[in-house]
Amino acid sequence: MKRAKPIIVANWKGYVQTPEEVKKFVQAIKRFPRLLAACDVMLAPSYTLLSVLAALSKTSRVAVGSQALSPSAGGAHTGDVSALMLKASGASFSIVGHSERRSAPASEDEENIRQQTLRASEAGLGVVLCVGERERDPSGAHFNIIAAQLSSALAALPQKSLGKFMIAYEPVWAIGKTAGEAMQPSDLQEMVIFIRKTLTQTLERAGALRVPILYGGSVEAENIAVLYAEGGVSGFLVGHASAKSESFIGMLQALS
Ligand code: PGA
Repeated sequence: MKRAKPIIVANWKGYVQTPEEVKKFVQAIKRFPRLLAACDVMLAPSYTLLSVLAALSKTSRVAVGSQALSPSAGGAHTGDVSALMLKASGASFSIVGHSERRSAPASEDEENIRQQTLRASEAGLGVVLCVGERERDPSGAHFNIIAAQLSSALAALPQKSLGKFMIAYEPVWAIGKTAGEAMQPSDLQEMVIFIRKTLTQTLERAGALRVPILYGGSVEAENIAVLYAEGGVSGFLVGHASAKSESFIGMLQALS
């Protein structure tokens, strides 16, 4: 069977801060239409840059999304950004449950993440659900952590939203380092098989087999090709290396 295009989700975190930076990035990547066409490119800027990026990417195939969303549907929630607001700003997906949101100060718990999954799905946004263990345990307890995170969020996912749902496996210990400290492809492959098995236990089989599983954690141009070739993933959720056009293009080149 022909493999689908690799998916690359850029999690810009707080790295990209101004409309000028967004403009420069978009102008730079648009010079590589062949590379852009060879991947499914999804960019997640901060809330404030969503509509700027959406307007700039209108004529390209790049999808625009947020890094999180409010677990509420709007109303009396000061400072929150609801799924509807995101949609109105041009977002088509949201990252949900990133480890930096699960930690302080946001401290999102499983219930919060479940609500975000539900709100995003109800609004027709795709969901990139992040799961990942803080540390590896020789007895394999990290597999239980992943299974618990998955089943909690999946319980909130309406069946009709499955086609817009993906999982990003991001071991917390591998985030924000360098390519040399990222996960090894063979360990990744083992986890991908485990996640797929867990999905088939919860969802109907055909749907479970179609959910893309991404990897995130110190993905750079140096290691992206080997992780794609040997890790069994459909693509990547990339932090620091996605925020500068040079390193982003370097990853697209490595995948092509
Ligand atoms: P990193 O971040 O690529 O900088 O390790 C990945 C992430 O946190 O999504």
